[in-house]
Amino acid sequence: MRIIFNNNLKGLRKDVLLVSVSPKNSSTSSPQVNDEIIRENGVKTLYLKSDDRMNLRKLFLLVRKMVIMAKGIKAEKLAFDFSDFSTLGGSASGGKFSKFGISDEKLGEIIGSQLDFANYEFLEYKTPTEEGFNFIKEVIISGTNKKIQKEILKGHTIAEEVNKTRSLANMPGGDMTPQILAKKAKEAVKGLPVKVTVLGEKEMEKQNMRAILSVGRGSDEESKFIIMEYYGAGRKETRGEHSRTKPIVLVGKGVTFDTGGINLKPSNSLLGMNMDMSGGAAVIHTIALVAKMKLKKNVIGLIPSVENMASGKSYRPGDIVRSMSGKTIEILNTDAEGRVILADALTYAQKYNPEVVVDIATLTGAAVVALGERASAIFTGDNKLAKTFEELGEKTGDYVWRLPLWEEYENEVKGTLGDWTNIHNKDSRYGGAIYAAIFLYQFIKGLKWVHLDIAPRMTAMQGENLSQGALGTPVRLLYKFIEEY
Ligand code: BES
Ligand code: MN
Ligand code: ZN
Repeated sequence: MRIIFNNNLKGLRKDVLLVSVSPKNSSTSSPQVNDEIIRENGVKTLYLKSDDRMNLRKLFLLVRKMVIMAKGIKAEKLAFDFSDFSTLGGSASGGKFSKFGISDEKLGEIIGSQLDFANYEFLEYKTPTEEGFNFIKEVIISGTNKKIQKEILKGHTIAEEVNKTRSLANMPGGDMTPQILAKKAKEAVKGLPVKVTVLGEKEMEKQNMRAILSVGRGSDEESKFIIMEYYGAGRKETRGEHSRTKPIVLVGKGVTFDTGGINLKPSNSLLGMNMDMSGGAAVIHTIALVAKMKLKKNVIGLIPSVENMASGKSYRPGDIVRSMSGKTIEILNTDAEGRVILADALTYAQKYNPEVVVDIATLTGAAVVALGERASAIFTGDNKLAKTFEELGEKTGDYVWRLPLWEEYENEVKGTLGDWTNIHNKDSRYGGAIYAAIFLYQFIKGLKWVHLDIAPRMTAMQGENLSQGALGTPVRLLYKFIEEY
């Protein structure tokens, strides 16, 4: 989508859909009460009605609704005035979103990103109709200044990476293997100062990454460990000794298809498991974005990537695996594979002497049971980090909700024959997301660490004004975290 800044929306060409946004019950604005598209003098106008009590959450939806409605009438160009949106904050906030801590510039970034976010559809496998696909190709925005324009374009760049994340995750399992994911990681940062190293199974053996290798063994596809390094803050000043150059390490679950392994998933749980590499995809494109925006930060991405298959070579329930850390894992269920591969990745992360480690994984159905589909689960022992993520979640739309990471929970993952079990040791279904988190904690104790279980936000839900399929969460959140850290 092309963005054009033009402070005069009068005399627009007839193929442009003009959008007028106003509060539902305002007397000064248009006579329309509901969202309506009206044709006047050959020009189509979309009268978009906002809630009287606006907030940022509703704004995200409203911007997206504008795009969806425009697409609904096959418009290719739309135009609106920026102040239509910025005044929706209500009088209490001085007509701005300032009461939510959002300046007009920040609002620009938000609107810029939501436009592209809503315009996206995954059509790579669809044959185009004769008219082609219907996307918004051009957006004309008035009522901005240079600073706001810059932020709108930044939002546009952010959303581009979010949408690429969605495309990676949406790829069918047959076309998304660990090897292809590694190739996509390289492509994502082509021309950018990011070094990508891919370890194959031989190299992982040398590193004693038996946990990853065990999960991947059942598949004909070779497991990969993808390493992405970006040193925007400079590397030479004795990496790790200055907190300025200590890197932020992102670890993303890269299960390219999760059958459950020998603990095979039932039919209705298999569909969608091509998206079990969503965390890895988010890491790839967050690093690409950080490099594109030339952030002066050091950021490392680690993606253990496997296919969890059932075959004669698969790891078995009851197997005891010695992880890279030296600790052994008693496999009680082969479908709890994500935490097993993440164990080695979290161990590997410590080679970088990180400032903070954040892992991102579609880890448990239990997180979806706990939170529904509207927030990712966040776990951390650091209250400050939790607060930062919660606040940034609100500002970006990648919402998170905290669940406990108390050491008491360790009792239920203590092993009998091995050190730790990969599910609740009494096979209880209670608190599944927490037990996954407390298991991971064993491999990263002592470091600043945040675990994001993004299973709840893997796909879009009805009413979000987004196309179905992968959501690209939490690229916006991670980017903001890195930018502001
Ligand atoms: N990838 C799944 C979790 C998942 C489920 C993500 C649904 C997105 C949507 C994970 O590997 C898994 O299978 N977890 C099991 C754990 C169980 C065996 C303890 C689960 O949640 O059922
Ligand atoms: Mn699984
Ligand atoms: Zn999984």
